Amino acid sequence: MPNVLVTGGAGFIGSHFACAIEQNKHMKVVIYDAMTYSSDLSRLKNYNGTIVNGDIGDYDKVLTTLKEHEITHIVNFAAESHVDRSIEDVNPFLRTNVFGTVSLMEAAEKYWLETNGGYKDKLFVHISTDEVYGELREKDRPLDEKAPLKPSNPYAASKAAADQFVIAKISGEGFPGMIVRSSNNFGLNQNDEKLIPKVIRCLNENMDIPLYGNGQQRRCWLYVEDYCRILMELMEAGPIGEIFNVKGASSLSNLEVVCKMREAYASLVNLPVDAVSHIAFVQDRKTHDYFYNIDQSKLLRMGISPAHKRIEDFIDEKQFFIK
Ligand SMILES: NC(=O)c1ccc[n+]([C@@H]2O[C@H](COP(=O)([O-])OP(=O)(O)OC[C@H]3O[C@@H](n4cnc5c(N)ncnc54)[C@H](O)[C@@H]3O)[C@@H](O)[C@H]2O)c1
Repeated sequence: MPNVLVTGGAGFIGSHFACAIEQNKHMKVVIYDAMTYSSDLSRLKNYNGTIVNGDIGDYDKVLTTLKEHEITHIVNFAAESHVDRSIEDVNPFLRTNVFGTVSLMEAAEKYWLETNGGYKDKLFVHISTDEVYGELREKDRPLDEKAPLKPSNPYAASKAAADQFVIAKISGEGFPGMIVRSSNNFGLNQNDEKLIPKVIRCLNENMDIPLYGNGQQRRCWLYVEDYCRILMELMEAGPIGEIFNVKGASSLSNLEVVCKMREAYASLVNLPVDAVSHIAFVQDRKTHDYFYNIDQSKLLRMGISPAHKRIEDFIDEKQFFIK
């Protein structure tokens, strides 16, 4: 039975994943998280495993943790994840997303090769993003895993750089890695600075909802619970050395998301839509990709079913507001 280290497990996606894998697969799970501003332990109310407060770039601490818990599988969610912050200051992105990932792999290599019987039955899943492929238009063909990486913001560049180090370690040294590149996630417990929680806060506090540019940027929204199920299936299928795209069930522009959320909120509080927070278009950020579109046929060929839940249905269920 694998012992799984979930880095970034106090973050949005990592916390859903740690709970899902513990409850559904009954594996031993250890969360390893530096507890930055984007972590929140209240996301882990239903989690019973160990939590280690540590930085993935702290080689010695990672190594000690791997040894102590006899870790066989690592799923690396730990990252600086907010594009706006990367435009302000790229340094934390370089430290965690690039150096941190490399250091984490080196610690895993040392432990697995020197004291845990080699790479057999070991797996390092690196969580990446569709943003590494860069911006597309709706008429463009979806990109598969072989497409060149063309990041267009510092966050995406740091993720693309990390991907290249993982690829180099797999192909050069036979490291048991796998890379998963997903589209934008949605679900409960997302960070306050992301679009959906921001809209919820504005609606609850009856404040204008700031929306970048004309709001036409479009994302393929992936339900976080669908994503966790797909990741667990990929871990079990274990095709080492491969890259997989994972895409959401529907695509909506930011403006469409906000409009649907206003409608859902208005119906919840029994008011006409015009009586709830209005949209205030604000100056767009320096770099704002219009659209990402990935081809996930490789995932489907593995017999893994795609994400099902559409963001519009989730908004209609109003869980965001009631939780
Ligand atoms: N959220 C999305 O829509 C989305 C989409 C595609 C890919 N991803 C990728 O998924 C992963 C998780 O994203 P998220 O939205 O859950 O991010 P998040 O910001 O909510 O969580 C990141 C977690 O990593 C931790 N962390 C940061 N630096 C660390 C370090 N040096 N050492 C250990 N822990 C550290 C933070 O404390 C936090 O708990 C990231 O790698 C991100 O690039 C996210």
